[in-house]
Amino acid sequence: MPTVIETLKSRSSKRAYLPKPVPKDIQEQILNAAAMTPSGANMQPWKVIAISNKETLKNIGDAIIAKMDEGVEHDQHIQYYPVNWVNPYKKRRIVTGAGLYKLMEVDRKDDATRLKMWHDNFKWFGAQTVYFVFTDKANIEGAQGALIDCGAYMQSLMLAAQEFGVDTCPQGSTTEFGRVVAKVLDTPDNLALLYSVVLGYEDKEAKINTYQPARASLEDTVTFID
Ligand SMILES: Cc1cc2nc3c(=O)[nH]c(=O)nc-3n(C[C@H](O)[C@H](O)[C@H](O)COP(=O)(O)O)c2cc1C
Repeated sequence: MPTVIETLKSRSSKRAYLPKPVPKDIQEQILNAAAMTPSGANMQPWKVIAISNKETLKNIGDAIIAKMDEGVEHDQHIQYYPVNWVNPYKKRRIVTGAGLYKLMEVDRKDDATRLKMWHDNFKWFGAQTVYFVFTDKANIEGAQGALIDCGAYMQSLMLAAQEFGVDTCPQGSTTEFGRVVAKVLDTPDNLALLYSVVLGYEDKEAKINTYQPARASLEDTVTFID
């Protein structure tokens, strides 16, 4: 049984999956474990729609791609990425993206292939199970705490999944089209989409799944005061 540290270190985002859904009993174990995520005042602000229905996933993905084709950049409940990117975050984003394109031998100017790779998000990278995590809009009106809780919940889902050999990819790409997702799912008006997580079984033959972007050093991210 891997330790927590081994699990943390062995997880990475997978972007190519075998066409194999995650069995319901395994999903329930993952979701029950993730439900133990701590939250302020034990608020448990996450609301999950766990979809393994092929048609529903296709409908959501098609609706997002159609929106993109109209030239719409986002149709969202929350803004995930910074509006003004500053360094060192900007540089890390560029290095991480460039590394992926280099691995996949995609030219900087090859917009068509880059767009196709972005669209792969909305084809769920071939996976058959996706969790859409919402919160009540009331939780995030003038407050950000629920976003912290739901972020921790995301990591819990991904680490718990590892225990069952289930791979994951977190998605902020769907955050950007949260209103489109909500419309297709006909969710109640009070819910805002925060993110999705793709779950499944990685295609071990796929080169893209070998990508493991580096992390900044402790010197760059931690200040010790002893
Ligand atoms: C909130 C969040 C949103 C993300 N959105 C996407 C996404 O839409 N598409 C994607 O391919 N990867 C997405 N990622 C994955 C990140 O690119 C990835 O976590 C980061 O580059 C570190 O790589 P690793 O997860 O393989 O360790 C997201 C990660 C997080 C935490």
